[in-house]
Amino acid sequence: MEVVIVDDRSQGGQMVSSAICSRFKLEPLSVLGLATGSSPEPVYDDLAARYAKGEVSFRRGQAFLLDEYVGLPSGHPESYRAVIERQVVDRLDFEPTSVRGPDGAATDLTAACATYEAAIAEAGGVSIQLLGIGSDGHIGFNEPGSSLASRTRIKTLTADTRRANSRFFHGDPGAVPHHVITQGIGTILRARHLILLAWGTDKAEALASAIEGPVTASIPASALQLHPHVTVVADHEATSRLTRLDYYLETWRAKPEWQTI
Ligand code: F6R
Repeated sequence: MEVVIVDDRSQGGQMVSSAICSRFKLEPLSVLGLATGSSPEPVYDDLAARYAKGEVSFRRGQAFLLDEYVGLPSGHPESYRAVIERQVVDRLDFEPTSVRGPDGAATDLTAACATYEAAIAEAGGVSIQLLGIGSDGHIGFNEPGSSLASRTRIKTLTADTRRANSRFFHGDPGAVPHHVITQGIGTILRARHLILLAWGTDKAEALASAIEGPVTASIPASALQLHPHVTVVADHEATSRLTRLDYYLETWRAKPEWQTI
């Protein structure tokens, strides 16, 4: 696992966006794993800027969302599909049908989960998966206690996550759905490169537990320790609780020119 400490989220966004663009230039059929929430926003902003300058195209690529709320009416502005439409689909040249998310409005949710899992596999798996981390250590919507081998399925959000996400629902936790469909931890671990983004002190404790604590279902992001290619890109505040901070900084300073993240 590589831990890259950046001055701010904008610098982190540029670094990750540059890695994504390199991948799509090299392999135009690549598959991008999309997270929602605040953490990936600087990446999407920088991708949009590079696309606008003609630096990269995603026309032949595909993308998959990590998760979706269950039960929001279709077209609800805070459904993750709608968020990704605004932040990614409207600003890049992915074919809209090549950007898929779990169907949180399906009548048969269990079948929708299985269909989604199969669609990811059929696309050849995810090349680069963007991840944020919840302050309780969740990735996707795999709340603490989630099986580390889990696949796409329905989960119940914790009260803390509903409170955190109420900022997107006029500050009303009661308006945040109780249920979601999320890629499982086992699904996420199948992506070839995982990039975890973390900004601000609110993430410091969870990030330290995930990176330097034991692998445990109580901190779902600690499962990343089991993956062979993980890059954590985080600012000084989010990394403030790491004990091997000096080592991560030294590793980055000594990184050979030719080696990318
Ligand atoms: C969203 C997701 C969640 C968020 C996490 C952090 O698709 O998968 O795991 O990444 O809740 O949210 P933010 O980035 O808003 O702090």
